[in-house]
Amino acid sequence: MTAHPLALLSASEIVETVDLVTTKGLVGDDTTFRRVAVDESDLAERRIEVWLYHRQSKRIDELVVSLTTGEVVSNLTVEGMRPQIGFAEIPRAMAVVKDDPRVAEAVARRGITDPQKLQIDPWPTGNMGLEHERGRRVARCIAFYREEDDDNGYARPIDGLMAFVDLDLMEVYRIDDIGPWPLAAETSNYSAGTVAARTDVAPLEITQPEGPSFTVTDGNHIHWQNWDVRVLLDHTEGLVLHSLAWTDDGRRRPIMRRASLAEMVVPYGEIRESQAFKNALDVGEIGLGRCVNSLRLGCDCLGDITYLDATWCFDDGTPVVVDQAICIHEEDFGIAWKHTDSHTGTSEVRRSRRLVISSIFTVGNYDYGLFWYLYVDGTIQMEIKLTGIVTTQSHAPGDDLSYAALVAPEVAAPIHQHLFCARFDMEVDGARNTAYRVDVEPDPPGGRNPHGNAFRAVATRLEREQQAIDVVDPSKARTWRVVNEGVTNRLGQPTGFKLLPADTSTLFPADSSRIAGRAGFATSNIWVTPTSGDERFPAGNHVTQSAPEGQGLPAWTEADRPLADTDITVWHTFGLTHSARPEDYPVMPVEYARCTWVPFGFFDCNPALDLPAPDHCH
Ligand code: CO
Repeated sequence: MTAHPLALLSASEIVETVDLVTTKGLVGDDTTFRRVAVDESDLAERRIEVWLYHRQSKRIDELVVSLTTGEVVSNLTVEGMRPQIGFAEIPRAMAVVKDDPRVAEAVARRGITDPQKLQIDPWPTGNMGLEHERGRRVARCIAFYREEDDDNGYARPIDGLMAFVDLDLMEVYRIDDIGPWPLAAETSNYSAGTVAARTDVAPLEITQPEGPSFTVTDGNHIHWQNWDVRVLLDHTEGLVLHSLAWTDDGRRRPIMRRASLAEMVVPYGEIRESQAFKNALDVGEIGLGRCVNSLRLGCDCLGDITYLDATWCFDDGTPVVVDQAICIHEEDFGIAWKHTDSHTGTSEVRRSRRLVISSIFTVGNYDYGLFWYLYVDGTIQMEIKLTGIVTTQSHAPGDDLSYAALVAPEVAAPIHQHLFCARFDMEVDGARNTAYRVDVEPDPPGGRNPHGNAFRAVATRLEREQQAIDVVDPSKARTWRVVNEGVTNRLGQPTGFKLLPADTSTLFPADSSRIAGRAGFATSNIWVTPTSGDERFPAGNHVTQSAPEGQGLPAWTEADRPLADTDITVWHTFGLTHSARPEDYPVMPVEYARCTWVPFGFFDCNPALDLPAPDHCH
């Protein structure tokens, strides 16, 4: 029996998928697997998406196979693009760099005698228009020094040294060294045992004596109060919500067909050549899903936790099972609502709580927590928790600190951004939705505004894609609303949800910069498109070393397609601009980036009125 079309991918299905494409003659000796994921385009059968990379021909095949029928559903050949760096390639690239005599010489100039004590980080080289990278698949490897194996590598950058590895040939084909800078002295370790722990932290335990109030059926179908949703772990996007709905008086009302973190970009603002190439697209270049952590109770998550395992496909087609990759639990969230009636002296108060669905992904020096929250009042929230270690560069006396901040003696962190692009395939009360931009505008004083106090919310119907491209504007209290014009609440208003955008900037690199051309999605905060199964990744399907030609959202929206009363997807780019503090070092306290959808006329009144009153509170 095949799995539900929206079930989590299993190890046996990966084996079955690999067998299927191998049997069909699509896999050669030089072929590796670069994306194996649930294809959600057809809910009648179980489909798996497979991206193959053929090293000899440098060709990518984008396949969809059906495990229900055992057939290849589609097969698209892509030329001239590069796949994600393979996970098998990363340790091999590290090894060839460590073993390279030119690297040994370069680090000897910095007083390092044993190159095996280097930490090598193979970075996506981006696309800086370098002639020597043309036609190659390149990891630009940078180095750090660990005196002891468990030292904090990022404390001692070997700045200026860059080893270019051709990943197809698996050889170092070029070394650039703009150093040396002196090696930083401090080890800046932070692990337990290296820092004296506080002794004034009393135990804090969360108990739910009757268990949590959610259930998980069919492996990944979560039911919690009025909500129900499927959760998937996508190879590329990480934690994905699917078929999110609220059941109202026995009627299941869809809200989002699919919600995901579709791409992100981390541009660095430092002009030093050893830093300026850093423009990570961590979702598409790396595959966030396969960076998922195995979570531990009481450490990553506290309380009555339900974990789901996740499985992803290694380069060679082997399934990798990550235990406890997805954490599901309930959290108390303070008060849901309250009023103290001064007339009677009585108080009505209800407790809020939220359902938390989360995973944590480690990409090199950074750790990203992806948290989805569902609330008792119909609110939906996406939150990214950013932690880990800031990328570091060496600092010598007299070095320019315009584009970097000192975080320790001889160590600086370049200014950078983390811009996340969330993709929301909306289906508020059905597939046909319409988006509005809502600005609050003051009326001119005089006339029917004699006191000059008048201001109003002005909703503009977004008829076409170009009109929808926009930025967050707190000066206009700007929000967006997605409504179903065919369904009304008891007041006759179309049912809808409102996007409360993040307080966020757009991409700071110049519009003419190569990264602005590669990550055009980040040059605006909001895009709306007619939903297309082919338009899932806002910087394109294959972003590794991609050309600065506006793949993805900028290209799709050139068609200026109509948006009203159709199946639409809202893309919201939000995040942080990170000018590092000393407090961000040697490991960064969690910083948060989030956006929120709240019901707007979706319900007839406060949907949390029916929360039970706590026994002892009235
Ligand atoms: Co940062």
